[in-house]
Amino acid sequence: MSHLDHIPSTPGKFKMEKSYNNRMRWHSSLTKLTFWSFIFIGVIFLFFYRSPASQPSTTHPEPSDPSRRSLRTSSWGGPEWEKRVRTSARIRSRNGFSVLVTGAAGFVGTHVSSALKRRGDGVLGLDNFNDYYDPSLKRARQGLLERSGVFIVEGDINDVALLKKLFEVVAFTHVMHLAAQAGVRYAMENPGSYVHSNIAGFVSLLEVCKEANPQPSIVWASSSSVYGLNTKVPFSEKDRTDQPASLYAATKKAGEEIAHTYNHIYGLSLTGLRFFTVYGPWGRPDMAYFFFTKDILKGKSISIFETQNHETVARDFTYIDDIVKGCLAALDTAEKSTGSGGKKKAPAQLRVFNLGNTSPVPVSNLVSILEKLLKVKAKKNITKLPRNGDVPYTHANISLAQRELGYKPSTDLQTGLKKFVRWYLNYYGGKKAVSR
Ligand SMILES: NC(=O)c1ccc[n+]([C@@H]2O[C@H](COP(=O)([O-])OP(=O)(O)OC[C@H]3O[C@@H](n4cnc5c(N)ncnc54)[C@H](O)[C@@H]3O)[C@@H](O)[C@H]2O)c1
Repeated sequence: MSHLDHIPSTPGKFKMEKSYNNRMRWHSSLTKLTFWSFIFIGVIFLFFYRSPASQPSTTHPEPSDPSRRSLRTSSWGGPEWEKRVRTSARIRSRNGFSVLVTGAAGFVGTHVSSALKRRGDGVLGLDNFNDYYDPSLKRARQGLLERSGVFIVEGDINDVALLKKLFEVVAFTHVMHLAAQAGVRYAMENPGSYVHSNIAGFVSLLEVCKEANPQPSIVWASSSSVYGLNTKVPFSEKDRTDQPASLYAATKKAGEEIAHTYNHIYGLSLTGLRFFTVYGPWGRPDMAYFFFTKDILKGKSISIFETQNHETVARDFTYIDDIVKGCLAALDTAEKSTGSGGKKKAPAQLRVFNLGNTSPVPVSNLVSILEKLLKVKAKKNITKLPRNGDVPYTHANISLAQRELGYKPSTDLQTGLKKFVRWYLNYYGGKKAVSR
């Protein structure tokens, strides 16, 4: 035996005898084979388990990808359904509109739909009732609208066949497009849902609108978040919007560019509204004023953010009734689209407006107002603003909306929050917790 045989081939290991070596090689091949067989069977199992073919044979299977979970359309069509659609969209006032409101079961959508219906416009809602936040709140809003004669079709704005059917049944004069994946922070958790609803969904809707005859005028919700890292205040429509701080903001900015394209090529009349932190009764549970209220009442501590330089975070909180007035004014002043059959006949209107309150309030003041209204002291935890897309400060310059829409917000934060808290206590009453 040469002395080399006793030298470990790798440090810490001794060379083994040949037969033992062969046995070990065979053993390790068997282990590898078993391992890869398991992986292979696993992959096959996953493929069949996740593929739509193995889903229960419903017409609209539940997508397994969470970003697509909202592509869910309940059954639609048939004479009864068409009758409901037509009745809901029927105009009941002179010079009234017939409006398709997307996102009608949402916070802003519910308020806008109900205001339009009250003044005699025909309104048809469309919403996919996704579970980004508690869908029972969306169902309750749906109940509210149903009682005032607004039917909400359950479907996704990506469902082109459904959209075409709706335009076949009703010649909508206007579309109020509010359906979107909202929220800045959730974009890091489920980016696909933003692309699905705010980009792909918007394009699907515009594709159907451009083909419709007559083409409707479209008013849609952009967001103050498009101002992103812009530091010039107050934010004016002329300021730069090419530095979004979140994917949500980027998809809204993309929406504004997409709107430009459809206006330019097809003559669609398009008005984008940049809402600034909307709050009020029937609001969104993922927004700070809402979950602060919930947590203060539960005795849970709340996180109040400050900037990296210890500056206070402030928002231009805008009360829902003011936003509704702005939306209606945008519909009322929207010019007709100029195209037909997918072809532009003349230049069409293209607008963007800030809809804010022009009065930024530090979040700490929001908490003090809530403490007084709820008669409970909040447990506060001051912490640094995480780098997740939230911006430290928003402040709207609304002079353009004032001039062109006659927009004039009239509710201060104290008054608006009082109405919100009254609704909250009444709605949740004895219920202890509100899910998300
Ligand atoms: N509330 C605010 O402070 C605020 C601020 C700026 C912009 N906005 C924008 O205003 C609009 C309305 O916001 P909101 O606060 O009422 O939000 P919301 O989440 O309460 O309402 C949006 C509704 O759209 C529906 N929806 C989402 N994706 C859909 C899809 N693919 N197909 C069909 N329906 C879909 C949801 O189920 C929801 O009911 C949104 O476009 C939002 O981005 C809101």
